[in-house]
Amino acid sequence: MNRLDTDAVHLAREDLAALGVHVPSIDLSTTYPLPSVEAGGAAYDRLAGGARPEAGDSLVYQRLWNPNVDRFERAVAGLERLPAAVAFATGMAALSATLVATVSAGRPHVVAVRPLYGGTDHVLASGLLGTQVSWATADRVSEAIRPDTGLVVVETPGNPTLDLVDLRDVVAQAGDVPVLVDNTFATPVLQRPADHGAALVLHSATKFLGGHGDAMGGVVAAGEEWVARLRGVRALTGGLLHPLAAYELHRGVQTLPVRVRAQQETAAALADRLAGHPRVRRVLYPGLKECDPHGLVGTQMAGPGSMLAFELAGGYAAAAATAGGCALITHAVSLGGVDTLVQHPAGLTHRPVAAAARPDAALLRLSVGLEDVEDLWADLEQALG
Ligand SMILES: Cc1ncc(COP(=O)(O)O)c(C=O)c1O
Repeated sequence: MNRLDTDAVHLAREDLAALGVHVPSIDLSTTYPLPSVEAGGAAYDRLAGGARPEAGDSLVYQRLWNPNVDRFERAVAGLERLPAAVAFATGMAALSATLVATVSAGRPHVVAVRPLYGGTDHVLASGLLGTQVSWATADRVSEAIRPDTGLVVVETPGNPTLDLVDLRDVVAQAGDVPVLVDNTFATPVLQRPADHGAALVLHSATKFLGGHGDAMGGVVAAGEEWVARLRGVRALTGGLLHPLAAYELHRGVQTLPVRVRAQQETAAALADRLAGHPRVRRVLYPGLKECDPHGLVGTQMAGPGSMLAFELAGGYAAAAATAGGCALITHAVSLGGVDTLVQHPAGLTHRPVAAAARPDAALLRLSVGLEDVEDLWADLEQALG
């Protein structure tokens, strides 16, 4: 294990020189030759049961194992300083597999702290996967825990209002119940939830890990036991990451630290300028003192990140006009890429959230990219009118 920037570049590439290549080959096989029925069957049992292949094993079938997916998983596990990881087709597939594993272990109750990404909120509120949810504020998690609670779910910073959660406190309140932290916004560059006691760390890899808006994926990093269970769920339910996407996500990880830090610097500057703009009612950004009452930036987080949100003094109409009026900045959902995106959470990403918990209609969310800060500010100023 090296320092983070070195790990980002080199993790899960250690064997390449010995293989005589500089970048991983892409293995697109959907099926693999079987040495014999017996040997194939034994490998099938191992892989379907969530174990890694043994030397000489046939990989049997892509739904059970893929070398590029394995590389991406090992890179994420290394950056999160957790023993292993398991990757899925999307962040929602990763969350769904975790919920299915929780229900199948006989503890279907989930305690969840809002705000959460709208899809996460929706899947929990719907009970579609057999979970029952209790919503709790971060300071009341312990009161919501029941004997059948199998999981606590938190996001910090939370989507879309960038609320920060004190992970050590939540983990202490959860007691024996595993805490899943969605680390999509912070990335392991700024925050490693496992250092604060989280059992599971989830990413929508579609966002910062990939970083270029051209590959979808999800990943859960955890201990070996959880990962084996989740691999078993993946083998059975099929939400696997495509090898080409795995290759792209693994490549994206190499530049993650430099992207995150550069985007963060621009976001901090834009947050300051937006806070002084007469058409802006309020800026939500972890780097602003009033948004970090417990002093988590600098302790739990190495920096405030590159996601911010702001409320327009003119309410919904002004927010919709501003999103639509951006030219350099793309009006689109998703986040964490090299280009800046703006979107209206109440109308889009958080549309399925119960009305009482839905973000303010005056709120816009900005995912700050790698463009020059002056060009971004000029676009925002003209869009704000
Ligand atoms: C914080 C967070 N978690 C999870 C997801 C779901 O990820 P995906 O879109 O890859 O399914 C998203 C998507 O926007 C997200 O913002």
